[in-house]
Amino acid sequence: PKQITAPEFRAAKARGAKLAVVTAYDYTSARLCDEAGVDCILVGDSVGMVVQGHPTSLPVTLDEMIYHTRCVMRGVRRALVVADLPFLTYQVSPRQAVRSAGRLMKEGGAHAVKLEGGVRMRAAVRACVDAGIPVMAHVGLTPQAVHQLGGFKVQRDAEQLLADGAAVEAAGAFAVVVESVPAELGAKLTAAVTIPTIGIGAGAACDGQVLVFHDMLGLFPDFKPKFAKRYADLGGAVKTAVESYCREVRDGSFPAAEHTFR
Ligand code: KIV
Ligand code: NA
Repeated sequence: PKQITAPEFRAAKARGAKLAVVTAYDYTSARLCDEAGVDCILVGDSVGMVVQGHPTSLPVTLDEMIYHTRCVMRGVRRALVVADLPFLTYQVSPRQAVRSAGRLMKEGGAHAVKLEGGVRMRAAVRACVDAGIPVMAHVGLTPQAVHQLGGFKVQRDAEQLLADGAAVEAAGAFAVVVESVPAELGAKLTAAVTIPTIGIGAGAACDGQVLVFHDMLGLFPDFKPKFAKRYADLGGAVKTAVESYCREVRDGSFPAAEHTFR
């Protein structure tokens, strides 16, 4: 299959084609998502919560993101792969943003990077784009600012959201994630920018949607946001399977003859 590029991803909006994005952090899950036909795989810093077990994404390092991106790249043939810039690897200065984004591309192999912020990050977006790095922005609820925002809350400031969207579009972003805003605000932003809006808890009018792999598959019980539709209960399936294994080991029915060398 032909690899989807950032310009193609951006152009989907003009065709009215909705974009399906999912997160992945390793080879196996990335390969499954790619073969299932997603348009874009996001190596999200949500890895800090659903893989590392932290309460926020703040502790995730650039080296960890590079490692996960390398794992994901080996499983992907078609999807556009976007890697998250973790907390404090781009906020210091546009120079820091380019250096960190460059590492995700050079060492990780990512096709593009994502960073959080609108108006306040316009210079960082511009610097990366000027360096030839496609940037997906992220506005609305920006989880790296969770302590400043006072929790993972729905963001209702319409003026701020529209200013943020306009800023990242003007700075050259090829798409923008919109997280946890009322549906009518998601629709307003989507109508106001020419780049695709990728919603997560931002309503059905967005040009695409993104979900966290572990949330959509029922693998992450710690926290269930309203927007996280469960498409499967893999957590339940895993528990049942491992319980069966434990039982069979203990009662001696595993391994059977067909699992045994003679
Ligand atoms: O880290 C992540 O998974 C994300 C998506 C939820 C957009 O940023
Ligand atoms: Na993220």
